[in-house]
Amino acid sequence: MSSPAPSLSDRGSIESESITGTCSSPATSLDELVDDVTVKSEFKSDGDFAEPAPGLPPVPDADTPLVVDETDINTPDKWVKRDPRLVRLTGKHPFNSEARLDTLFAAGFLTPTSLFYVRNHGAVPKVNADRARNWKLRVHGLVQREATFSIADLKRMFPVVTLPITLVCAGNRRKEQNMVQKSLGFNWGAAGLSTALFTGVYLADVLEYVKPQRPSSKHVVFEGADADLPNGPYGTSQKLPVAANREKGMLIAWKMNGLDLEPDHGFPLRMVIPGQIGGRSVKWLTRIEISEVESQHYLHFNDNKMLPTQLGAQQARGEPHWWHDPKYIINDLNVNSAIAEPNHGEVLPVHPEDLVESQYQIKGYAYAGGGRRVTRTEISLDEGNSWALADIVYPEDLYRSVVVEDPVYGSLDLTERDTSFCWCFWSFNVSVEELTKCNAIMVRATDESQALQQRDMYWNATGMMNNWWFRVAIHHERNVDGIDVLRFEHPTLAGVASGGWMERMKNSGLDVLKPEFGGRQAPLSATVNKMINPDITRMISLSEYLSATSGHGPNPREKKPWFVVNGEVYDGAGYLDEHPGGADSIWLAAGERDSSGDFLAIHSDDAKVKLAKFHIGKLTTESDSEVALPEDTTESSTFLQRSRWNSASLSSVVQVNHDSAIYRFSLSSPNLSLGLPVGQHVFVRLRQKQGESGQIEILIKQVISCLEHPIGGKMSVCFHGLVVGDFVEFKGPLGSFVWEGRGNIRWKDVPRTGVRNIGLICGGSGITPILQVLRSVLRDETDEETRLWMLDANKTEADILCREELDSMVQIHGSTSKPRLSVHHTLGTPPAGWSFSTGRINDDMLRRYLPPPSEDAMILVCGPDGMVQKTVRPGLERIGWDIHRSLWYSSAQLGRLASPLD
Ligand code: MTE
Repeated sequence: MSSPAPSLSDRGSIESESITGTCSSPATSLDELVDDVTVKSEFKSDGDFAEPAPGLPPVPDADTPLVVDETDINTPDKWVKRDPRLVRLTGKHPFNSEARLDTLFAAGFLTPTSLFYVRNHGAVPKVNADRARNWKLRVHGLVQREATFSIADLKRMFPVVTLPITLVCAGNRRKEQNMVQKSLGFNWGAAGLSTALFTGVYLADVLEYVKPQRPSSKHVVFEGADADLPNGPYGTSQKLPVAANREKGMLIAWKMNGLDLEPDHGFPLRMVIPGQIGGRSVKWLTRIEISEVESQHYLHFNDNKMLPTQLGAQQARGEPHWWHDPKYIINDLNVNSAIAEPNHGEVLPVHPEDLVESQYQIKGYAYAGGGRRVTRTEISLDEGNSWALADIVYPEDLYRSVVVEDPVYGSLDLTERDTSFCWCFWSFNVSVEELTKCNAIMVRATDESQALQQRDMYWNATGMMNNWWFRVAIHHERNVDGIDVLRFEHPTLAGVASGGWMERMKNSGLDVLKPEFGGRQAPLSATVNKMINPDITRMISLSEYLSATSGHGPNPREKKPWFVVNGEVYDGAGYLDEHPGGADSIWLAAGERDSSGDFLAIHSDDAKVKLAKFHIGKLTTESDSEVALPEDTTESSTFLQRSRWNSASLSSVVQVNHDSAIYRFSLSSPNLSLGLPVGQHVFVRLRQKQGESGQIEILIKQVISCLEHPIGGKMSVCFHGLVVGDFVEFKGPLGSFVWEGRGNIRWKDVPRTGVRNIGLICGGSGITPILQVLRSVLRDETDEETRLWMLDANKTEADILCREELDSMVQIHGSTSKPRLSVHHTLGTPPAGWSFSTGRINDDMLRRYLPPPSEDAMILVCGPDGMVQKTVRPGLERIGWDIHRSLWYSSAQLGRLASPLD
């Protein structure tokens, strides 16, 4: 693998003299440095390695792909070249990815930059040659000597050093937590970590130069250039005594594996904080502030917290005080390990003749935090009853006996360091015979502080720091040639990929938190258990179920809203009025042979537990052929059908602001009308299969692992992955409210006339159904009576959806002698000179910008649950509205797409 060992300075095309420019006259040789970033060597699928010095781990070659991956073409990152082997975890954008575990592991100690995991909260700042040359790092605040450094200044003024450092995302292995219960984060597999030689200067040296004022200085705050994030730039902080300690190894870095940082990894300058979660290593570093208080950046508080396990995801999101409680911040990594070999899906043939001699080497990685060393990794082949020590190799130790001085890398000298900032590798030899006798391989590591990986998962709302034992299941099978084999199964696969024993067990109703391997039955998991009423023993045949739901049962015309989840039958009759999505959402499931997927995907655990009340029996497994299924084969002139999913193909995507886009779908025939009454909504299901023109347009707020929602919306992520031509399925319409025009509405099927004044309140993407009503009323030239009052709440001005359309509606209909429309906005963070309101909706706004309560007035609301329930409902009541008669509302929930309605 290794080519003859060149010196470190032979690597890549980075200038081999240090730059001697000053702040005011940047060194011209930076041109070279910058050009290198855009022109890298040809992409190679396997590395051509060089060693910095004999005996040291080989440094991966520059392997940036030459072309932009087509997935990135319609995103703000359309200029960033990325390795298509990376597994995308949040759709197309922002880019969050990890390599496959086997690929990462095979790449060795230092990770090729193209495979290095990426965690971006937004678009990558586009830094061109000029900007990089003039990049300024401002160091200010409570210091005696404020300074602004170019990269050349840093190189000239401070010792340049290189350290091998493993960065690990706090979400590494999160998918395992998400299999238990959805957390707020997206699905990292076990490859959310990577290692590189980082070159820069010690933060401690820079701090010493600027001289923090004592004793007022307490924190060192870092800020990145990705300032367009919805809640301001990425930033976080360190306590000053820690940051000022050179032993902590914190670097202000500009190189990775001897080459300029890649755009995804912070080009041209970043922090690298060894031993801590990756989230502390601020990329695209522009500013360091010495302060009395910790970072006030939004994400410093609202990300990278490990909240108490009792706190569910929804509760955590709704209760800000947890996020501000210093007890829950995560800095140091915890001890962790994973098995890389056997790989997921690996098959090991078992030959009886040499069973005893055949050996298998189990291998994996481990790491610990805060510079602590992993002192033990142990393997169990009997599900945790006994453990054996595995061998540990610390490639980082190889650097401890060599001093490399190099113009590019500066000083690579670990001879006096005893910190461990990198991952280590462990291995364990076992005879195949022994493997044939066991059902799972488990690993746990211990660090030098005797912290030990736990048997049990500590589930938490952000899904961070998951470090329960890593378990690989063993299946004893016979292959098609009749040979006995062992097939290995990892707990999960990163991203949307399906597979792994956790998903398998969960789908079988087994308790994934107490996994038992080898076919023994584990009890049902807590939530699934609670969805059933244990006293119910009735067996319901498929024909009985279908007759009841089609109205062909013993009481004809009496259609029953029965539906099936996990093979159990539920009667939704008692919940038709209460269901937040309206009765229609239950009717849509009635008669479906299995609504588990739809139900489980969109309901919270609380909602799932409520099911037990409606449990009436178990669906028997009668074969389909015995049942004459009432097929819905009626030809229809409308595309939307309540009892049938119909697919439409994506024809275009138009981005309307930073996080929202209109997805336009072609219906199967141009003559079809959509069949969506004004005010109603649809169910959307993504299958991405080729299938079967009219049109349907859906405005979607893309909730993709943004700062505010580290998770991203499940549907957003899937929509992001769609390409023109993909098929999406629709079913509907549903909803309890229909605007029929000229003062006539239908509400839960009860007609009401004479509605003259309509107040419309929307929060963020809640505008979608509201916009339908606005358009319909204003386009109806025969309707001169209906007056619309809209109150639109958003975080920032950029979040106001369809602003141009709203403004033009106001221009046309708002300033006539008999105005028909008024629109008022309120923003959480208004720009300078903002003339509308500021802050959350309050009673004063409800009084001033909506019609007064009266017989001919009503209010339609769509927005986040908290806004609807905690502000609007009580507020309207306080100012005199009869909310039972005049308020129709719907909650917009994260991850429920298309229309934010239930
Ligand atoms: N810095 C900025 N400016 N913006 C970001 O989105 N993400 C953080 C951190 N630094 C982030 C950032 C997180 S959560 C992680 S895990 C690491 O960068 C990932 O670094 P990498 O993408 O180089 O692997």
